Amino acid sequence: MSTANAFTRSTAQRELYGSGARLATRTRALHRAKTSGRPVADVIAELAAAHLPTASGTVVADIGCGRGTTSRALTERLRPRCLLAVDASVAMITDARARITGDAPIVYLQADFHRLPLAGAACDLVVAAFCLYHSRDPRSVVAELARVLRPGGLAALVTKSADSYQALDHLVAGAGLDPDALERPSLYSTAHSGNLPTLLPPSLRTVHLEHERHTFDFTDLGHVAAYLATTPKYELPPGLAGDPDAITSRLRARLPDGPVHAASTVTYLLARKEDTT
Ligand SMILES: C[S@@+](CC[C@H](N)C(=O)[O-])C[C@H]1O[C@@H](n2cnc3c(N)ncnc32)[C@H](O)[C@@H]1O
Repeated sequence: MSTANAFTRSTAQRELYGSGARLATRTRALHRAKTSGRPVADVIAELAAAHLPTASGTVVADIGCGRGTTSRALTERLRPRCLLAVDASVAMITDARARITGDAPIVYLQADFHRLPLAGAACDLVVAAFCLYHSRDPRSVVAELARVLRPGGLAALVTKSADSYQALDHLVAGAGLDPDALERPSLYSTAHSGNLPTLLPPSLRTVHLEHERHTFDFTDLGHVAAYLATTPKYELPPGLAGDPDAITSRLRARLPDGPVHAASTVTYLLARKEDTT
């Protein structure tokens, strides 16, 4: 059995983010199931506005911007002088560009967050939402974020708990879809709610740490299958991976159909770059 975390494997990342469709399907399945938890992009934008000395005239970088959900909320709430939307995937940047309409001052950059093509102290705010866990060495990514922050600037790091969606491990194992599901490492194992503060370099000081439990009620096994078809966590039998209908049939053959409950904690950490001048 592979013990690697699928989120840190480059092949899985290419599958996940090689087109915007898979992330969009995963997000839709989760949103449809969500029963509690505030919209994350709006919370990030509000927290940033509350902790930035002045929101206007700022340079903001949204690292691992994905399809641009957080970039859009930051642009609308903060009205920055410039927002840098950075992602390793060209497909994600293309989607973000299409989803953020209007004349917001956004510069799209394809780059690896381990080596940002930005000058030191270039940004007032850097945001890394739901992306640090794609690195095997998230500490080096956060150090890179600190490098591009000006003294007094703010980093907003957002991740999920290591136990996120664990109920689905039981379901997948119980249905015989992946008998090793319970032993598979969390997708969030490198950067999760529990270790996020330990990833900060000495130059970043925590100013806000908040955990919020998000709950999800999938209506039935078909709804769960829509999510399972987009997660790289499990090793499904040949022909099932990525096919929600085939996954639904297998689940229904082994389990009684009905609602399925799952949960995840979302953690927000805001840290200020020490002003050493
Ligand atoms: C779940 S999406 C992020 C969603 C987005 N931050 C939001 O709030 O809507 C994760 C993103 O991290 C990006 N990513 C993964 N590894 C990366 C790396 N090494 N450098 C830059 N971006 C990376 C992926 O391409 C993907 O778009």
